[in-house]
Amino acid sequence: MAPMVVALILGWWLVAVSRAQQLPRPSLSLHPSQRVSLGDNVTLRCHLPQPAAWVRLYQYDNPTYIEQKDNVQDMAEFSLAEIKKEDAVIYQCQYQGLAPAGISEKSDPMKLVVTDHSYPPPGISLSLEEYVEIGSNVTIRCWNNISGVAFFLHKEGHSAPVQRQKLSAGSMGTFTLFGVTPADSGTYRCSYRISGCCLLFSPLGDNVTLEVIPRPAIPGVSGGASRNLVATVAGGCASAIVFIIVLTVSFLLVAQRRRMQTDERPGATPRSPEAVQFQVSPSDSEGLTYAQLQAVTPSTYPPDSSTTPEPSIIYTEVGTRGPR
Ligand SMILES: *[C@@H]1O[C@H](CO)[C@@H](O)[C@H](O)[C@H]1NC(C)=O
Ligand SMILES: *[C@@H]1O[C@H](CO)[C@@H](O)[C@H](O)[C@H]1NC(C)=O
Ligand SMILES: *[C@@H]1O[C@H](CO)[C@@H](O)[C@H](O)[C@H]1NC(C)=O
Ligand SMILES: *[C@@H]1O[C@H](CO)[C@@H](O)[C@H](O)[C@H]1NC(C)=O
Repeated sequence: MAPMVVALILGWWLVAVSRAQQLPRPSLSLHPSQRVSLGDNVTLRCHLPQPAAWVRLYQYDNPTYIEQKDNVQDMAEFSLAEIKKEDAVIYQCQYQGLAPAGISEKSDPMKLVVTDHSYPPPGISLSLEEYVEIGSNVTIRCWNNISGVAFFLHKEGHSAPVQRQKLSAGSMGTFTLFGVTPADSGTYRCSYRISGCCLLFSPLGDNVTLEVIPRPAIPGVSGGASRNLVATVAGGCASAIVFIIVLTVSFLLVAQRRRMQTDERPGATPRSPEAVQFQVSPSDSEGLTYAQLQAVTPSTYPPDSSTTPEPSIIYTEVGTRGPR
């Protein structure tokens, strides 16, 4: 019995939900959409996905509508003339469809933000120079002479503020842009929200311009950059030459030791120290190939030892052979 009741209730609820979902939501737009000041005339347009028996305009969280238009095809216009502080709130609209019949959900909330020019615009300052490197942290400060307001940071080309602050205790607001990228370049301004009722704001203050530049292209040090390049290339060549010399010397050392081991075999003619020294002449290095070198190194000397050639090895071995 109980499961059946649950199933019935669930079924009724699902039908109710799907019926409500059959009516798409309307959308609300504001004209003009920005920089509305007290005393301006504003138009709110409710766009409908289908013809409606009526369209209603609501203030957010208020169950009673403020205006209704009947028999609307696709758009209902609501005019607010010479707006006052109290008009600076959030709005929504709703409609009753003809076919299918039913009442839509309310549109997404739309804020009517209003500027009150009786308040002074805030000041602004930038923590760093106008030109900053990628990855820097940039701080923008906004201030005014009224304590306990919430500051907003606006960027040219963005209708909504890019950052906002909770109520600041003093009369200064700080915004930090962490690890800036070229996308953060632009012109910034501040405003503050006037406490009390409504979506009432001060006028925008003066602007600051931020330009984020790539690291190597700092103006004025391009000469230093090319000097650095020359130094790097020269350093690279020097290391390559040193490396080749070290390889050659170690190969010759290995080759010499081998030859000495061969000489010590019975029957072989021992060579004089002069002959050994003659073999280490630099002219031999011309005949070297890389393949030869690799074939030799694993036998006696680990590759690491080639970085520090020790001529003393020659003299030690030559010395021990001396008394023979
Ligand atoms: C606003 O609308 C009223 C009539 O509704 C009109 O008298 C007034 O001139 C309009 N103001 C502006 C600035 O357009
Ligand atoms: C930017 O701020 C973050 C967090 O405070 C810090 O970890 C980072 O080192 C700062 N970067 C620079 C370039 O100062
Ligand atoms: C704050 O007040 C001082 C003088 O009282 C004035 O010079 C300054 O411009 C004011 N600053 C702002 C942001 O209103
Ligand atoms: C920024 O302000 C200066 C004057 O303070 C003005 O000349 C300039 O046009 C402003 N820039 C923008 C992008 O508004």
